[in-house]
Amino acid sequence: MSSTLNPGKLRLGVNIDHVATIRNARGGDHPDPVRAAEIVARCGGDGITAHLREDRRHIRDDDLKRIQDATDLPLNLEMAATEEMLAIALKHKPHAACIVPEKREERTTEGGLDAAGQHNQLVPIVNALKDAGIRVSLFIEASERQLDAALRLGAPVVEFHTGEYAHAYLDGEPERMQRELKRVTDMAALAAKNGIEPHAGHGLTYENVQPIAAIPQLAELNIGHYLIGEAIFCGLEPAVLRMRELMDAAR
Ligand code: PXP
Repeated sequence: MSSTLNPGKLRLGVNIDHVATIRNARGGDHPDPVRAAEIVARCGGDGITAHLREDRRHIRDDDLKRIQDATDLPLNLEMAATEEMLAIALKHKPHAACIVPEKREERTTEGGLDAAGQHNQLVPIVNALKDAGIRVSLFIEASERQLDAALRLGAPVVEFHTGEYAHAYLDGEPERMQRELKRVTDMAALAAKNGIEPHAGHGLTYENVQPIAAIPQLAELNIGHYLIGEAIFCGLEPAVLRMRELMDAAR
Protein backbone atom coordinates (compact mmCIF):
# COMPACT_ATOMS: atom_id res chain seq x y z
CA MET A 1 0.00 0.00 0.00
CA SER A 2 2.24 2.77 -1.18
CA SER A 3 1.87 6.35 -0.09
CA THR A 4 1.14 7.30 -3.69
CA LEU A 5 -2.14 5.40 -3.69
CA ASN A 6 -4.06 7.76 -1.40
CA PRO A 7 -1.71 10.61 -0.59
CA GLY A 8 -2.46 12.34 2.69
CA LYS A 9 -5.13 9.91 3.79
CA LEU A 10 -4.66 7.49 6.67
CA ARG A 11 -5.15 4.15 4.95
CA LEU A 12 -7.02 1.25 6.48
CA GLY A 13 -5.67 -2.20 5.74
CA VAL A 14 -8.15 -4.85 6.82
CA ASN A 15 -6.66 -8.05 8.13
CA ILE A 16 -8.96 -10.89 7.06
CA ASP A 17 -7.11 -13.73 8.81
CA HIS A 18 -9.89 -14.44 11.25
CA VAL A 19 -12.47 -15.05 8.57
CA ALA A 20 -10.18 -17.93 7.63
CA THR A 21 -9.90 -18.95 11.30
CA ILE A 22 -13.67 -19.49 11.38
CA ARG A 23 -13.61 -21.29 8.04
CA ASN A 24 -10.84 -23.62 9.19
CA ALA A 25 -12.73 -24.49 12.38
CA ARG A 26 -14.91 -26.74 10.21
CA GLY A 27 -12.39 -27.53 7.49
CA GLY A 28 -14.62 -26.44 4.61
CA ASP A 29 -14.81 -23.35 2.43
CA HIS A 30 -17.15 -21.17 4.48
CA PRO A 31 -16.75 -18.35 5.40
CA ASP A 32 -14.41 -17.52 2.56
CA PRO A 33 -11.82 -14.79 3.28
CA VAL A 34 -12.00 -13.87 -0.42
CA ARG A 35 -15.59 -12.78 0.05
CA ALA A 36 -14.41 -10.62 2.96
CA ALA A 37 -11.74 -9.09 0.72
CA GLU A 38 -14.37 -8.26 -1.89
CA ILE A 39 -16.54 -6.54 0.72
CA VAL A 40 -13.56 -4.56 2.02
CA ALA A 41 -12.83 -3.43 -1.56
CA ARG A 42 -16.45 -2.37 -2.07
CA CYS A 43 -16.71 -0.34 1.10
CA GLY A 44 -13.58 1.72 0.88
CA GLY A 45 -10.89 -0.30 2.63
CA ASP A 46 -7.46 0.60 1.28
CA GLY A 47 -5.82 -2.78 1.41
CA ILE A 48 -6.05 -6.40 2.42
CA THR A 49 -3.68 -7.78 5.01
CA ALA A 50 -3.21 -11.51 5.40
CA HIS A 51 -0.74 -13.49 7.49
CA LEU A 52 0.32 -16.83 6.08
CA ARG A 53 1.53 -18.50 9.24
CA GLU A 54 3.89 -21.45 9.25
CA ASP A 55 1.15 -23.66 10.71
CA ARG A 56 -1.50 -22.32 8.24
CA ARG A 57 -3.90 -21.86 11.12
CA HIS A 58 -5.91 -19.27 9.20
CA ILE A 59 -4.83 -18.11 5.73
CA ARG A 60 -3.80 -20.98 3.42
CA ASP A 61 -1.46 -20.89 0.46
CA ASP A 62 -4.23 -20.97 -2.14
CA ASP A 63 -6.02 -18.04 -0.47
CA LEU A 64 -3.27 -15.66 -1.53
CA LYS A 65 -3.83 -16.04 -5.26
CA ARG A 66 -7.57 -16.08 -4.82
CA ILE A 67 -7.43 -12.81 -2.87
CA GLN A 68 -5.16 -11.23 -5.48
CA ASP A 69 -7.45 -12.38 -8.31
CA ALA A 70 -10.62 -11.20 -6.58
CA THR A 71 -9.71 -7.58 -5.80
CA ASP A 72 -7.48 -4.79 -7.06
CA LEU A 73 -6.67 -3.75 -3.53
CA PRO A 74 -3.02 -4.00 -2.59
CA LEU A 75 -2.20 -7.15 -0.65
CA ASN A 76 0.01 -6.78 2.39
CA LEU A 77 1.40 -10.24 3.13
CA GLU A 78 2.50 -10.71 6.71
CA MET A 79 5.26 -13.29 6.83
CA ALA A 80 7.95 -14.73 9.05
CA ALA A 81 11.53 -14.21 7.89
CA THR A 82 11.99 -17.75 6.59
CA GLU A 83 13.12 -19.23 3.28
CA GLU A 84 9.73 -20.88 2.84
CA MET A 85 7.83 -17.61 3.23
CA LEU A 86 10.30 -15.72 1.07
CA ALA A 87 9.72 -18.21 -1.78
CA ILE A 88 5.94 -17.79 -1.41
CA ALA A 89 6.24 -14.00 -1.41
CA LEU A 90 8.44 -14.04 -4.50
CA LYS A 91 5.92 -16.30 -6.25
CA HIS A 92 2.88 -14.15 -5.46
CA LYS A 93 4.56 -10.74 -5.50
CA PRO A 94 2.16 -9.00 -3.11
CA HIS A 95 2.23 -5.22 -3.07
CA ALA A 96 3.87 -5.29 0.36
CA ALA A 97 5.41 -7.84 2.68
CA CYS A 98 5.38 -7.14 6.38
CA ILE A 99 7.99 -9.20 8.19
CA VAL A 100 6.69 -10.33 11.57
CA PRO A 101 8.12 -12.48 14.34
CA GLU A 102 6.43 -15.83 14.59
CA LYS A 103 6.29 -18.47 17.26
CA ARG A 104 4.08 -21.48 16.73
CA GLU A 105 2.75 -21.53 20.29
CA GLU A 106 1.67 -17.87 20.38
CA ARG A 107 -2.00 -16.99 19.93
CA THR A 108 -1.18 -13.92 17.88
CA THR A 109 1.91 -11.90 16.97
CA GLU A 110 3.11 -11.04 20.45
CA GLY A 111 5.77 -8.35 20.40
CA GLY A 112 7.66 -6.88 17.51
CA LEU A 113 10.35 -8.25 15.28
CA ASP A 114 13.85 -7.99 16.75
CA ALA A 115 15.21 -6.25 13.67
CA ALA A 116 18.27 -5.15 15.64
CA GLY A 117 19.16 -8.59 16.99
CA GLN A 118 18.38 -10.42 13.74
CA HIS A 119 20.04 -8.00 11.35
CA ASN A 120 22.14 -10.61 9.58
CA GLN A 121 19.28 -13.07 9.04
CA LEU A 122 17.03 -10.26 7.79
CA VAL A 123 19.44 -8.74 5.25
CA PRO A 124 19.00 -11.41 2.52
CA ILE A 125 15.23 -11.62 3.02
CA VAL A 126 14.70 -7.84 2.93
CA ASN A 127 16.98 -7.49 -0.09
CA ALA A 128 15.32 -10.32 -2.03
CA LEU A 129 11.88 -8.84 -1.42
CA LYS A 130 13.03 -5.36 -2.40
CA ASP A 131 14.74 -6.68 -5.53
CA ALA A 132 11.42 -8.26 -6.53
CA GLY A 133 9.70 -4.87 -6.21
CA ILE A 134 7.82 -5.81 -3.03
CA ARG A 135 7.45 -3.03 -0.50
CA VAL A 136 9.07 -4.25 2.71
CA SER A 137 7.64 -3.38 6.07
CA LEU A 138 9.05 -4.46 9.44
CA PHE A 139 6.64 -5.03 12.33
CA ILE A 140 8.61 -3.57 15.24
CA GLU A 141 8.20 -2.14 18.69
CA ALA A 142 8.23 1.65 18.71
CA SER A 143 11.80 2.04 19.91
CA GLU A 144 14.82 3.91 18.60
CA ARG A 145 16.86 0.72 18.59
CA GLN A 146 14.44 -1.10 16.30
CA LEU A 147 13.86 1.93 14.11
CA ASP A 148 17.59 2.36 13.68
CA ALA A 149 17.83 -1.31 12.69
CA ALA A 150 15.06 -0.82 10.11
CA LEU A 151 17.01 2.12 8.69
CA ARG A 152 20.17 0.03 8.44
CA LEU A 153 18.21 -2.71 6.69
CA GLY A 154 16.86 -0.19 4.18
CA ALA A 155 13.19 -0.95 4.93
CA PRO A 156 10.94 1.69 3.34
CA VAL A 157 8.16 1.03 5.86
CA VAL A 158 7.85 0.10 9.53
CA GLU A 159 4.66 -0.96 11.27
CA PHE A 160 4.64 -0.14 14.96
CA HIS A 161 3.16 -2.83 17.21
CA THR A 162 0.33 -1.22 19.19
CA GLY A 163 -0.33 -4.32 21.31
CA GLU A 164 1.06 -2.80 24.52
CA TYR A 165 -1.02 0.32 23.98
CA ALA A 166 -4.12 -1.82 23.44
CA HIS A 167 -3.38 -3.93 26.53
CA ALA A 168 -2.97 -0.79 28.66
CA TYR A 169 -6.40 0.33 27.48
CA LEU A 170 -7.94 -3.05 28.28
CA ASP A 171 -6.27 -3.13 31.68
CA GLY A 172 -7.71 0.33 32.46
CA GLU A 173 -4.26 1.89 32.93
CA PRO A 174 -4.46 5.37 31.37
CA GLU A 175 -0.93 6.41 32.35
CA ARG A 176 0.59 3.32 30.75
CA MET A 177 -1.60 3.91 27.72
CA GLN A 178 -0.33 7.51 27.43
CA ARG A 179 3.26 6.30 27.73
CA GLU A 180 2.71 3.78 24.95
CA LEU A 181 0.97 6.37 22.83
CA LYS A 182 3.90 8.75 23.27
CA ARG A 183 6.33 6.03 22.22
CA VAL A 184 4.42 5.44 18.99
CA THR A 185 3.98 9.19 18.42
CA ASP A 186 7.68 9.94 18.90
CA MET A 187 8.86 7.01 16.80
CA ALA A 188 6.41 7.80 13.98
CA ALA A 189 7.87 11.32 13.81
CA LEU A 190 11.43 9.97 13.87
CA ALA A 191 10.64 7.39 11.17
CA ALA A 192 9.13 10.02 8.89
CA LYS A 193 12.10 12.34 9.51
CA ASN A 194 14.37 9.52 8.34
CA GLY A 195 12.35 8.79 5.21
CA ILE A 196 10.62 5.66 6.53
CA GLU A 197 6.84 5.47 6.17
CA PRO A 198 5.32 4.57 9.55
CA HIS A 199 2.28 2.31 9.91
CA ALA A 200 0.70 0.89 13.07
CA GLY A 201 -1.45 -2.02 14.07
CA HIS A 202 -2.46 -4.69 16.54
CA GLY A 203 -5.28 -4.69 19.04
CA LEU A 204 -6.95 -1.57 17.64
CA THR A 205 -10.67 -1.16 18.29
CA TYR A 206 -13.38 1.48 17.94
CA GLU A 207 -12.57 2.57 21.49
CA ASN A 208 -8.80 2.93 21.25
CA VAL A 209 -8.12 3.75 17.58
CA GLN A 210 -8.48 7.51 17.62
CA PRO A 211 -5.39 8.62 19.57
CA ILE A 212 -3.31 6.40 17.27
CA ALA A 213 -5.11 7.61 14.13
CA ALA A 214 -4.40 11.19 15.19
CA ILE A 215 -0.63 10.69 14.90
CA PRO A 216 0.00 12.80 11.81
CA GLN A 217 2.91 10.86 10.31
CA LEU A 218 1.13 7.50 10.31
CA ALA A 219 0.13 6.51 6.78
CA GLU A 220 -1.67 3.24 7.44
CA LEU A 221 -3.36 1.20 10.17
CA ASN A 222 -3.81 -2.54 9.86
CA ILE A 223 -6.76 -3.83 11.82
CA GLY A 224 -8.18 -7.33 11.93
CA HIS A 225 -9.48 -9.21 14.93
CA TYR A 226 -11.80 -6.51 16.25
CA LEU A 227 -13.32 -5.76 12.85
CA ILE A 228 -14.03 -9.41 12.11
CA GLY A 229 -15.48 -9.78 15.61
CA GLU A 230 -17.74 -6.76 15.08
CA ALA A 231 -18.74 -8.11 11.67
CA ILE A 232 -20.39 -11.06 13.43
CA PHE A 233 -22.87 -8.64 14.99
CA CYS A 234 -23.31 -5.93 12.37
CA GLY A 235 -21.73 -7.15 9.14
CA LEU A 236 -18.29 -6.48 7.73
CA GLU A 237 -19.21 -3.45 5.65
CA PRO A 238 -20.70 -1.43 8.56
CA ALA A 239 -17.75 -2.44 10.75
CA VAL A 240 -15.20 -1.21 8.19
CA LEU A 241 -17.19 1.97 7.55
CA ARG A 242 -17.41 2.74 11.27
CA MET A 243 -13.66 2.25 11.72
CA ARG A 244 -13.03 4.45 8.68
CA GLU A 245 -15.28 7.15 10.13
CA LEU A 246 -13.46 7.08 13.49
CA MET A 247 -10.07 7.24 11.80
CA ASP A 248 -11.11 10.18 9.62
CA ALA A 249 -12.62 12.04 12.58
CA ALA A 250 -9.35 11.70 14.49
CA ARG A 251 -7.36 13.50 11.79
N1 PXP B 1 -0.42 -5.83 11.90
C1 PXP B 1 0.34 -6.94 12.05
C2 PXP B 1 1.73 -6.92 11.55
C3 PXP B 1 -0.20 -8.11 12.63
O1 PXP B 1 0.55 -9.21 12.78
C4 PXP B 1 -1.55 -8.10 13.04
C5 PXP B 1 -2.17 -9.33 13.62
O2 PXP B 1 -2.12 -10.35 12.70
C6 PXP B 1 -2.30 -6.93 12.83
C7 PXP B 1 -1.69 -5.80 12.29
C8 PXP B 1 -3.75 -6.84 13.19
O3 PXP B 1 -3.93 -7.00 14.56
P1 PXP B 1 -5.39 -7.22 15.12
O4 PXP B 1 -5.89 -8.49 14.51
O5 PXP B 1 -5.18 -7.30 16.58
O6 PXP B 1 -6.20 -6.04 14.68
